[in-house]
Amino acid sequence: MTTRRTFMARTGGFLLAALTGRWLSGQATAGPGTPITVFKDPSCGCCTKWVDHLQANGFKPTVRPETNMDAIKDRLAIPKSVRGCHTAQLDGYLIEGHVPAGDIRRLLADRPKVAGLAVPGMPVSSPGMAVPGGPVEPFDVVAFQSNGTTRRFARH
Ligand code: CU
Ligand code: CU
Repeated sequence: MTTRRTFMARTGGFLLAALTGRWLSGQATAGPGTPITVFKDPSCGCCTKWVDHLQANGFKPTVRPETNMDAIKDRLAIPKSVRGCHTAQLDGYLIEGHVPAGDIRRLLADRPKVAGLAVPGMPVSSPGMAVPGGPVEPFDVVAFQSNGTTRRFARH
């Protein structure tokens, strides 16, 4: 988040206007794709990039702007240990943070008995966070239960 703020401060209102435009167009998305509801802070740029990643991979996101993301995560019983920035819901599962689209596809195909998938924190190489030429660090996608139990689902 600090990185984003610094970036926003440097590039100023133009970027903000561009992000807002994308966010608004994301809400009005029509056409084919796997529906997914994404709760995100309206000012979060990396969340918007993750939504773009979903769209580019055959999902149809509906974005719900939320300024109190903690309240959403509390309501959906997302364990504190796996929390990231945005939170999404599809087909009976929760998706927390920068989870790659391919892992969501595998979740929907395998349908394990878990509450959902999470990428805790904000790994620099995850979709929505990664920048061309930026640092590459491995990260885990975990499957979690509401009681906080986790197991590794994928390694990237
Ligand atoms: Cu993020
Ligand atoms: Cu986010």
